[in-house]
Amino acid sequence: MLDEQVSNGFAAALGAAVRQAFGEADLSSVAVQLVPTPSFEVGHLGFGCFPLAKALRRKPHDIAAKLAEAIQLPAPFRKAQAVGPYLNLFLDRGAFLAALCREIAEAGQAYGNAAASGQTVALEFSSPNTNKPQHLGHVRNNVLGMALARILEAAGHRVVKLNLINDRGVHICQTMLAYQRWGGGATPQSTGRKGDHFVGDYYVRFAQEAEKDPSLKDHAQALLVRWEQGDPEVVALWRTMNGWVYEGFDATYRRLGVEFDRVYHESETYRHGRDIVLKALADGRCRRLPDGAVEADLEPEGLERKILLRRDGTSVYITQDLGTAVARHDELGFDRMYYVVASEQIHHFRVLFALLRRFGYAWADNCRHVSYGMVYLPEGKMKSREGKVVDADDLLDEVEALAADAVREKHADIAPDELVRRKAQIALGAIKFYLLNVNLEKDITFDPAASVSFEGDTGPYVQYSHTRICGILRKASGPQSSSSSSSSLPDFSALGNNAETALGLLLMRFPAAVRDAAESCNPQRVASHLLEVARAFAQFYHDSPVLQAESPGLVAARLELCRATQAVLLRGLALLGIEAPEQM
Ligand code: ARG
Repeated sequence: MLDEQVSNGFAAALGAAVRQAFGEADLSSVAVQLVPTPSFEVGHLGFGCFPLAKALRRKPHDIAAKLAEAIQLPAPFRKAQAVGPYLNLFLDRGAFLAALCREIAEAGQAYGNAAASGQTVALEFSSPNTNKPQHLGHVRNNVLGMALARILEAAGHRVVKLNLINDRGVHICQTMLAYQRWGGGATPQSTGRKGDHFVGDYYVRFAQEAEKDPSLKDHAQALLVRWEQGDPEVVALWRTMNGWVYEGFDATYRRLGVEFDRVYHESETYRHGRDIVLKALADGRCRRLPDGAVEADLEPEGLERKILLRRDGTSVYITQDLGTAVARHDELGFDRMYYVVASEQIHHFRVLFALLRRFGYAWADNCRHVSYGMVYLPEGKMKSREGKVVDADDLLDEVEALAADAVREKHADIAPDELVRRKAQIALGAIKFYLLNVNLEKDITFDPAASVSFEGDTGPYVQYSHTRICGILRKASGPQSSSSSSSSLPDFSALGNNAETALGLLLMRFPAAVRDAAESCNPQRVASHLLEVARAFAQFYHDSPVLQAESPGLVAARLELCRATQAVLLRGLALLGIEAPEQM
C-alpha cells in the first residue's frame, strides 16, 4: 500500500541518513511516524526528531538540520527540509497523486484491506433480553457491532458474529406471569401488534402491578424454579412468547441490516455454566454458603464476593456467561473474543473474566469488553421498565419521515418507490453515522433532526459528497461531454494544488484509519476520516474546475482523483454499514 511504501521508504532513508551523519546507532526502539504539517509551505509530511534525541544524545534541532543534508529520499518524495526539531518532507505531488490514483483504481473496494492475519475474532453484540423490544441503546449496539465486524474483517481477521439471547431468567418469568394474569389469550396476530412490542407491554404491566402487590415478585421467582425444572406448561408458554419476540427482533434486524453467524441462547448455555460452577466447587475454587448458595470470593482479585448459584439452585446472569464463553471457546477456538456491551456492565465483565481465570481458563486474557456509552434522547434516559422506551422501530420511522421531507424538498416529483428506497438509505445513514462518529465511552444524546442534515458532521453529508462525485462522473461519460477530454490520458504532472494534495494525503491515510479503528475497536476513526475526506473534496471541487479544467490531460487527471475519492467514500461508508446512493 502507498501509505506503507511512503513510510517504509522514509524509514529506510532515515536509517541510512542517521548512519551517514552520526555513525552507527541503535534505532530499533524509535517509532518512525510521519505526521501532518501545519502548512504545505513548510512541507507535506513531517517527522519530529524527538525520539532520536535519546539514541543520538543530541538536540532534535541539530538532528533535523544534519539529517536534512544527509537524507536521500526515494520517490515520491522530492526533498527534505529542517524546520526546528522537524524534518519536513516535500512530495513530488504529481508522482504521488498518480501512484495513489493507480493504487485505488486497482484495489477498488478492497482498498484499505490488510493481509489475512490468520486470527479468529469472536464478536458478540446485540444480545437482547426476550422480555422487551429493542431500544435506542440496542440500535447503537447493533450498529457498532456490524461496523466492527466489517472493520475487523478489513483488518484481515476471520470474524464470527455472535448474538447471545438472554431468553431465560426472572425478568422473562415476570413477563410470562403478567401475560398469564392479564393477557386474556390475546396474541400479536389477534391484536395486530408487533411480537416484541406485544410481549414488552406485559413487562411494563408487571412492573406496574408489582408496585401495588410486591408478592408478585415471589410468584415470578416460583415460575422460574418451575421453568428450570422443565414444567411442560411453563416451558410451552415460554416458547410461545419468545417466538413472538423473535419475529419482532428479526424484522428490526432486517431493517437495520444486522446479521449473525451464530446465535447462542442463555436457556442452553446456563446449564453448562451451572456444571462449570459445580466443578469449580468440587475443585475448591469457590464455596457453598450455609444457605446452599454457591459463591466465589474474588476479594483476592480486588473484586467482591459473587453469588454464582442462588440458594434455590437457580442460575444468575453471570452463570450463563461462564457457560457461553466456554462453549464458544470449545466450538470456535477463537484467538480473541470481544463483547460489545454498554458501559453499565463494565463491572460484570471484570468479574466474568476474573472468574474464568480463577476456574483455569487462561484464554480469558484474550477476552475484551468493548464498552460504549449510553444513548439518550433530549428528553432523558430511556427506561423500558417505566414504559418510556425510545423504541428502535419508532426511532427508525421518525428519522425516515425526516429523511423523506429532505428528499421531497429537493425532488418534488420523485417516484413513490424511489422515495421509499432513498429515505431508508438516508435515515439509516443518518442514524448509523451519528451513533458511530463519537467517542466509544461517551454517552450521547441522539438528535434526530441534526442527524439527517445534509450539512454538518453527518452521514447524509458524506453520502451527499459521494452523490456529487457520481454526478461529475456521470457528466464526464455522458453524451454532452467532449469525448476528447474524457478519453485523454491523465496528466498527473498538472495536478498538485494544495486542495488536491490535501485530498490525496487523506485518501492515502484511509488504510491507517481502518487499521486504527480495528485496533482500538472504535469505528469512529473511520467515520471521522470520511468526514475529513468529504470536506477536503468540497474544498477541491470549490478550488478546481474538473470538467472545465484548462487541458484535457488535467480534466482526465482530476477525474481520476474524483474516482479515487468516490471509491474511498463508498468503501468507508460500507464499513460503517451505510449505503451510498448515487442520487439524493
Ligand atoms: N442481555 C443483556 C442485557 O440486555 C446483555 C448481554 C450482554 N452479553 C453478555 N455476554 N453478558 O443487559
